[in-house]
Amino acid sequence: MNYSSDLIIIGAGPGGYKAAVYAAKKGLKVTIFEDVNVGGTCLNVGCIPTKTYVHSKDFKEAVERQPQVVEALRSGVETLLSHPNITLVREKGVFINANTVSGVTAPNIIVATGSSAKMLPIPGADGQNVGSSTELLGLKELPKRLCIIGAGVIGMEFASVFQKFGSEVTVVEYLKECLPMVDSDIAKRLRKLLEKRGITFYMGAGVKSIDGSTVLFEQKGKEVAVEADYILMATGRKPNVSPDFANAGFEYDERKGIAVDENFETNVKGIYAIGDVNGRQMLAHAAEMQGIHVVNRILGIEDKIRFDVMPAAIFTEPEAACVGSTEDQLKEQGVPFECHKSFYRANGKALAMNETEGMVKLCCEPGEGRLLSAHVFGAHAADIVQEVTAYITLGATLRQLRETVHIHPTLSEVLIEVN
Ligand code: NAI
Repeated sequence: MNYSSDLIIIGAGPGGYKAAVYAAKKGLKVTIFEDVNVGGTCLNVGCIPTKTYVHSKDFKEAVERQPQVVEALRSGVETLLSHPNITLVREKGVFINANTVSGVTAPNIIVATGSSAKMLPIPGADGQNVGSSTELLGLKELPKRLCIIGAGVIGMEFASVFQKFGSEVTVVEYLKECLPMVDSDIAKRLRKLLEKRGITFYMGAGVKSIDGSTVLFEQKGKEVAVEADYILMATGRKPNVSPDFANAGFEYDERKGIAVDENFETNVKGIYAIGDVNGRQMLAHAAEMQGIHVVNRILGIEDKIRFDVMPAAIFTEPEAACVGSTEDQLKEQGVPFECHKSFYRANGKALAMNETEGMVKLCCEPGEGRLLSAHVFGAHAADIVQEVTAYITLGATLRQLRETVHIHPTLSEVLIEVN
């Protein structure tokens, strides 16, 4: 292999493959390297399989449907990558120097190598019954007792779905509340709801070791032991960096990933890093938009993508979703704001759907002013937050949102029903 391209992309996850397809459609010759499966973590062992689990009635159906859904999407991505301007190389792309990757040369390179689960460096973490979300999604038998370490996004999503399947779920979290980046009222409501369903939470509890099927931790100065058939380590993810990055000369760090500027360019001109590997926002849609932005930069196209308006959702049942700063963060920042709330129980569609558990919080500048953030807990929270994301991106006010006609009866009426 010895040729040149306009653009090299390392990694065919949502960041990499979307950038490749977009660049190819714009006329660039692209070489994309992928040594595992196209679609990356999101499609193969992340968002898509977990959502398949959420939307399956039992564990058996989830295990059966997972490979079918993943395979259908993967072959869709392969079709997209069969564009005449794209060469897909099914091996690890290795930096030889700042413009050569495994024999291919290009003036622009995008690193989109993603992230992997961060396993706690504690005794017993290498046990056979201990794994990350990837291993848990590979289980063919439902664990009777599941212990989850970490009540972040992954921990809460798996706690919710495995409890529904019938596992006895225990969650052990170091902090006082789950989901530290989510509005504190919503995080608490979600935890309480899952507790009511039978999940046991140990908060303010740092896991110190695992001994076979026993998870050992300390809570309020007391040693506690929890027995489990499977232990899910959901304590964060780390960027996938590789020693050959040094051949290209850009700055990177094992923990923080590749250092980039506001345009996702490294300190070596023409080399960019997008998605989880730059450690900014570990979200598939963030990676995709970063890739589009980089390709636009390469082509000299100006765009107005608002990376500061980044919606996110947690696919528990019901969902939690948000965009913009939480109430606590706005207070800390000293931003003048007012907060408006509404509840699903007063919404006609929610009642008809028997989905009355939920609330909406909208923060805006005083006097029904510019919308700053939205925090939603309840059925289809992600879709509701998506609507507010559009308003925030366009600089609209709460008044304008209220003056927008909403279809009746819909869940999104919860937005115009805020107090
Ligand atoms: P996380 O950073 O969200 O949560 C990890 C949790 O583990 C924290 O609350 C932390 O306090 C706790 N923890 C750490 N050490 C501990 C110990 N020794 N004992 C007890 N608790 C401990 O990480 P998570 O959930 O693994 O997710 C990784 C990344 O993937 C995140 O950036 C997340 O946003 C992303 N992701 C996003 C999804 C979505 O948008 N729906 C779905 C899945 C992952």
